[in-house]
Amino acid sequence: MATRRFKKHIACIGAGYVGGPTMAVIAAKCPDIKVTVVDISAPRIKAWESDNLPIYEPGLFDVVKKARGRNLFFSTDVDAAIKDAGIIFVSVNTPTKTFGEGAGKAADLQYWEKTARNIVKVATSNKIIVEKSTLPVRTAHAMERILNANEKGIHFEVASNPEFLAEGSAIKDLLNPDRVLLGTQETKAGLAVRKELVDLYAHWVNRANIITSNVWSAELSKLAANAFLAQRISSINSISAICEKTEADVSEVGYAIGRDSRIGAKFLQASVGFGGSCFKKDILNLVYLSEHYGLSEVAQYWENVIKLNDYQVTRFVRAMISAMFNTIAKKRIAVFGFAFKANTGDTRESPAIYVVKKLLDEHACVVVTDPKAIANAKDDLADCTGSLEFTADPYAAVRGAHAVAVCTEWDEYRKLDYRRIFAAMEKPAFVFDGRNILDHGRLFEIGFNVFPIGKKPLTHY
Ligand code: NAD
Ligand code: UGA
Repeated sequence: MATRRFKKHIACIGAGYVGGPTMAVIAAKCPDIKVTVVDISAPRIKAWESDNLPIYEPGLFDVVKKARGRNLFFSTDVDAAIKDAGIIFVSVNTPTKTFGEGAGKAADLQYWEKTARNIVKVATSNKIIVEKSTLPVRTAHAMERILNANEKGIHFEVASNPEFLAEGSAIKDLLNPDRVLLGTQETKAGLAVRKELVDLYAHWVNRANIITSNVWSAELSKLAANAFLAQRISSINSISAICEKTEADVSEVGYAIGRDSRIGAKFLQASVGFGGSCFKKDILNLVYLSEHYGLSEVAQYWENVIKLNDYQVTRFVRAMISAMFNTIAKKRIAVFGFAFKANTGDTRESPAIYVVKKLLDEHACVVVTDPKAIANAKDDLADCTGSLEFTADPYAAVRGAHAVAVCTEWDEYRKLDYRRIFAAMEKPAFVFDGRNILDHGRLFEIGFNVFPIGKKPLTHY
C-alpha cells in the first residue's frame, strides 16, 4: 500500500478554509509525509481534487498542485484516514451555538465531539489528536476523557495547535508564520508529542518561531489573539466616530498613534466594521467563558468590542440615509464588495450583509458587485425580498445609481475610472467609502459627494 513509501501519515478532518490550505502547505513542505484531508462534504472534496478549488486564496492552487497526488490526498473516507494516520488534526467548524444553554455565545462543539467519538470507534492504534479548530479553553481535557474512555487499550494524546492564518493571505501566513503555537501536556507522553509536532513544523519554520506551552495556554492564546485584533479595530472605529464630530481625520490619528512602537501601525484601519467567521464567534466564546467563571466585568469588557462593531455598521447605513436627504426608497445603490475583506470570496459575517439588508429594508434598489464573492452573496441574501441584483462588473452596477457604497477594500476599486462612473450615475452622485480606500479629493473634483469613515465629508451642497 502507498503508505509504505512515507515516513508518517497525517490525517486532517475538515477540508475547509483552515484544513485545506494548512495541510496543503504541510504536504508541500514535507514530501516524506503522507497527508490525507477528509471531509463529510463530497462536493467540497471533489472541488479540492479539481482545478476549481472550493475556496479562493492567492497562491493556494500552486501549493496544492505541487503536492496533490504525490503526498497530498483528499477523500470522503473519514474512517480509513483515521485508521491509517498516526497524527490526526481536527479542523472542523466550531460555530456559535444557536440553541439551548449558552445559545448565541458558547461554541457549538457537536462537530468536534462527533469527530472525537468517531475516532474512538474506528481507531486501532495509539494516536496524537491535534486541535486545529478554535475551541474553548479546556476542551482538550473533555476530549481526552471521551477518547481515553475506550475499552480497546488505545491511548490518545490531545495537543492544541491553533491556527493564526488570515484569509486572503493564508498561504503567505502558513509559509512564513509569525509563530506556530503548540500546546501539549507537560507529562512524558505530552512532551514526546510536543517534540514530534515541533519536528513536523521545523521542516520549514524556523525553530525560534515555534512556541510551546501547556494546552490551556494554547487554547486561550487563540481566543485572546483574535479578541485583541478585533479590539484594535473597534478602538479605531470608536475614534472614527469622534473624528466625524470634530473634523479630526482618523487616518492621521491612526498614523500618529501607530508610530508609537508600543502601539504599532497594523490593524488600525477604520472601516465599516470587521467581519469574518471568527472574530465575533471567538469573542463571544471568551465572553461565555468569562461568565462561566463568574467574571462578569471581564465578559462585559470583551462584549463591548462586538457592540462597538455593530454600532459602526449601523452608523454607516444611517449616514447614507441621512446624506441622501433621509430617503433612499427606489434609489439604486451599488454596493462595491461583499466579501468580508479583500482577496477572499468568503462572506461569513461580512458587514456588507447587514448593509444590504438595511438598504433593502429602506426600499432601496440594491446592486451588489464583487470580484470573487457573488456566489456566496446570493446564498447569504437568498431570503431577501425587494429589488436586488448581482453583477461582477462594477461599471454595470453603477448605471443609473445614486450612490456607491464601498464595503470591501478590493484593490481594483481604487483603479476604476471614476469619471466614467460619475457619468453613468444619477446626480447628485454619492460615494460612501466604508474602507477609506478611494482618493476622496479626486472624487470630489469629479463631482461626487464623498462620505468617508472618520473624515470630514466632501460635499457640493
Ligand atoms: P469551514 O466551515 O470552512 O470547514 C470546516 C469543515 O469541516 C467543513 O468542510 C465541514 O464539512 C467539515 N466537517 C464538519 N464536521 C465534520 C465531520 N464530522 N467529519 C468530517 N468533516 C467535517 O471552517 P474553517 O473556516 O476551516 O474553520 C475551522 C476551524 O478553524 C474553526 O474552529 C475556526 O474557528 C478555526 N479557524 C478558522 C480560520 C479562518 O480563517 N477561517 C482561521 C483560524 C482558525
Ligand atoms: C483573523 C485573524 O487575523 C487571524 O489571525 C485568525 O487566524 C483568523 O481571524 C481566525 O481565527 O479566523 P481573518 O478574519 O481572516 O483573520 O481576517 P483579518 O485580516 O483579521 O480581518 C478581519 C476583519 O477585520 C475584516 O473584515 C477586515 O476587513 C477587518 N479589518 C482588519 C479592519 O476593519 N481594519 C483593520 O485594520 C484590519
